[in-house]
Amino acid sequence: MDHFLYQNGILHAEDVPLPEIAASVGTPFYVYSTATLTRHFDLFAEALDGLPHLICFAMKSNSNQAVIKHMASLGAGMDVVSGGEYLRAKAAGVPGDRIVFSGVGKTEAEMRLALDGGIRQFNVESEPEMARLSRVASEMGKSAPITIRVNPDVDAKTHAKISTGRSEDKFGIPIARAREVYALAAALSGLQVIGIDVHIGSQLTDLEPFEIAYNKVAELTHQLRADGHTISRLDLGGGLGIPYQRSNTAPPLPIEYGEVIKRTVGDLGCEIEIEPGRLISGNAGLLVGSTIYVKHGEGRDFLILDAAMNDLIRPAMYGAWHDIVPVVEPAPGAEQTPYDIVGPVCESGDTFAKQRSLPALAEGDLVAFRSAGAYGAVMSSEYNSRPLIPEVLVKGDQFAVIRARPTFDDMINRDTLPEWV
Ligand code: LLP
Repeated sequence: MDHFLYQNGILHAEDVPLPEIAASVGTPFYVYSTATLTRHFDLFAEALDGLPHLICFAMKSNSNQAVIKHMASLGAGMDVVSGGEYLRAKAAGVPGDRIVFSGVGKTEAEMRLALDGGIRQFNVESEPEMARLSRVASEMGKSAPITIRVNPDVDAKTHAKISTGRSEDKFGIPIARAREVYALAAALSGLQVIGIDVHIGSQLTDLEPFEIAYNKVAELTHQLRADGHTISRLDLGGGLGIPYQRSNTAPPLPIEYGEVIKRTVGDLGCEIEIEPGRLISGNAGLLVGSTIYVKHGEGRDFLILDAAMNDLIRPAMYGAWHDIVPVVEPAPGAEQTPYDIVGPVCESGDTFAKQRSLPALAEGDLVAFRSAGAYGAVMSSEYNSRPLIPEVLVKGDQFAVIRARPTFDDMINRDTLPEWV
């Protein structure tokens, strides 16, 4: 459920009509609903009720300061994957002891940053990373709390580019070698082993891979405890999928996911962390664009929008589906026309959808891409020198620009000229 509904024939974000935002900030733009973010956080909180837990919002899905500050106000921690995300979390007022640091390639500078500013834990992904963190923390006279990310070799049955828990993926250490690697960690200075981390992929629409992976983590917890390690925390990653295509069957609900967690690792006496991104922010955001032209091609009509692949790259990159709806509600039974929905960028890959049925649209008509709050704005670029588009946050009947569109001068002046040019 989200808070983007037609009211009096016009698509609204909560109580704000989208044309009002378009008139104020111009198109294209991203718009997020505070109520939807809250609702999705609450669903996870209910799902884990009864277990000691921390919901660490995966900031990679949406790292706008206003969004993460709101998440933190609900009690969320943050899952960060770079020094930049760490600093964004800190800037939003998230205390270090609510920030977990994931990622396969943490640099020494990033380790120092987090050790200096405070960190809940590093999710360590390899032996060389472990050795480096040990040295850096020792040099700083600190002890770095760590989990080790294990790769359970489970097929998450999702898109290959966002599957992370098979042995061929670059993530974690093979679970079969975990005991050996934990022994190594325990012998290193500057590290404090506190738990296990696992994340098997993103946009999972089936709970079975979670169940298999978490059962393996439970078994490993017993083994590691028998080996003398303290395992008091389990980070179970993110990955629960969302319904991108409303006409399709819906993925499992957070409450069902919570049951899997309780069933598999709930009786180990561990504090549970999860790192959801998409399920919290995905359906909390729309991308709104305007029709520049309707072009009649040979055998097909093109809806040429002012939004493009640089604003939302998921269709071009993963062949991802986003529901696209007109901002003015079509009359019941209105005739549908198949359109190829494209942006103005100079490559054929700049296609959002082919032969998508929509009611007839004309120049200037607004359309909204659903499920664009996660991996939308954060993956955008200025390709074709198209400015990053504004982000707007709605709460009830109020809205605010939470990232402004840069001016062309801002963009040009970011470049500098060496004197020999
Ligand atoms: N934790 C870790 C360690 C991750 O790598 C990810 C996502 C998450 C948590 C959050 O997963 P979520 O709950 O959002 O599924 N750009 C792609 C998605 C990449 C996901 C990468 N890792 C997309 O647009 O579909």
